Amino acid sequence: MTETMASAPTLQALFDPKHRADPYPDYRGWQLTAPISEPVDRLFVLTKHKDCTAVLRDLRFGHAEGDEAGPLRAKPVDAKEYTLVDENGNPVRSFLGLNPPDHSRLRKLVSKAFTPRMITQLTPRIEQITAELLDAALAVAGPVDLIRDFASPLPVVVISELLDVPLADRERFEGWSHQLARALDPDFLLPAEVRESAMRAREEFADYFRELVALRRANPGDDLLSALVAVHDQGDVLTENELLATLILLLIAGHETTVNLIGNGTLALLHHPDQLARLRDEPELIDRAVEELLRYDSPVQLTFRYALEDAEVGGQAIPRGSFALLLIGAANRDAEEHTDPDALDVGREPSRHLAFGQGVHFCLGAPLARLEGRIALGALTQRAPGLRLSGEPTWKDNVVLRGLATLPVTLR
Ligand code: HEM
Repeated sequence: MTETMASAPTLQALFDPKHRADPYPDYRGWQLTAPISEPVDRLFVLTKHKDCTAVLRDLRFGHAEGDEAGPLRAKPVDAKEYTLVDENGNPVRSFLGLNPPDHSRLRKLVSKAFTPRMITQLTPRIEQITAELLDAALAVAGPVDLIRDFASPLPVVVISELLDVPLADRERFEGWSHQLARALDPDFLLPAEVRESAMRAREEFADYFRELVALRRANPGDDLLSALVAVHDQGDVLTENELLATLILLLIAGHETTVNLIGNGTLALLHHPDQLARLRDEPELIDRAVEELLRYDSPVQLTFRYALEDAEVGGQAIPRGSFALLLIGAANRDAEEHTDPDALDVGREPSRHLAFGQGVHFCLGAPLARLEGRIALGALTQRAPGLRLSGEPTWKDNVVLRGLATLPVTLR
C-alpha cells in the first residue's frame, strides 16, 4: 500500500496526479476493502472483473436518456450556436452512448461499412507507414519523443487514409481529436472551457465533414467514408447527423486509444527488460504480447453505465437511476481473474481482459487496434535494439483514457 492510497474508490481519487502516475496500488487496495463502493450521488464504483463483466453484459444497464441524464451528461447548450445537437440542445450522440434498439440499428449499419476485410486489406499500408515513421526516428542520434514521432502519427494517418481525408488536413484532425478525447471524462469534473472547446471542436469537425460527405455522395471512392455514405440495410440509411456523430466517434476511438496502446505498451516493456528481450527473441509472441499489454496498462481505464432498471451486482443492490463506474483498468489486474496480475508476461495464455469492453458495446475497432498494435510494437522491438528511456515520461490529464503525453527514448 502506498501513501497515495484512498481507502474507498471515489471519482476525486481518480484525478489525483499521484494516482494517475500509477493507479494500480489504489485499485488493489479498493478491490480488497471496497470492491463496490458505497454510492455517492447515485454513483457506484466497481473494481472487480466479475462485477464489471456482469454489468457490461446486462441490458438492464445502458446509457441514461433525456432528462435522466444526471451529473455525468453534458449540459444542454444553446442550440442556436451548434448544429450537431438535438431539439433539446443535447449533443447528438454516437451509438457508443445509445441503448438498443437505436444502438443495434446504427452499429449494424456501421459494421456493414467497417468490415474486417477492409481492415485486413490495410496491413501493407500500416506496415509501410510504421516503417517510414521508424526510419525517421531511427535517423535521430539523440532522444526522440516516441509519442510525438511514432505512437501518435501512426493511428492518425491510418484513420485518415481509411476515411480518405486529404493529407493537408490531418493536423487539424489531430487537434480536434485531442480536444474531443478530453471531453470523454465525466462532464461535471471538467472545467467549462474544456467542455466548450470540445463542443467547438465538434462543430468544426462537423462543418468540415459535411462538405466531404457531399463530395463523396456525388463522387464515391472505395474509402470508409464513401461506404458509410452509401450504407443501407433493408431501406434504412444513416441520417446526416448520425453519420457525423459516427465519424467523430471513429476519429476519437480510432486515434486516442491506439496511441495509448503503443505508448503504454512500450513503457511497460521498458520497465520490464526481461519481457522486452523475450519479445525480441520470440517475435511470434507479438499477438499474445499485445493482449497482455492491453491488459497490463489499459488505454481505456473506465467506462460508465446507467441502471435502466433495479439490478443487483456482486450482492450489491443498484437501484434504477444509479450510475456504475466500471474500472476496466482495475478489473484487468484482478487477482481473482488473472494469475499474478501485476506481472507482465508477454507469453501469458490468452486472458479474458476487458480492455475492449464486453457485451453489446464491445469495441468495433478491436481488429484494427490489434493490427496496428502488433505491427507498431513488433517493428519497434525488432528494429530499435538500443530502445531505452532517456527521460521521465509524462501522463496526459485524461481520466477515461490513460496515456502518455511524452515518452522520451533513445532508439539506437
Ligand atoms: C487499443 C485501442 C482501443 C481500445 C483499448 C478501445 C477500447 C474500447 C472500449 C473499452 C469500448 C467500449 C466502451 C463501453 O462499453 O463503454 C470501445 C468501443 C468502441 N470502439 Fe474502441 N478501442 C480501441 C480502438 C478502436 C479503434 C481503432 C476504433 C475504430 C477506428 C474503435 C472504435 C470503437 C467504436 C465504434 C466503439 C463503440 C462500439 C459500440 O458502442 O457498439 N476503437 N472501444
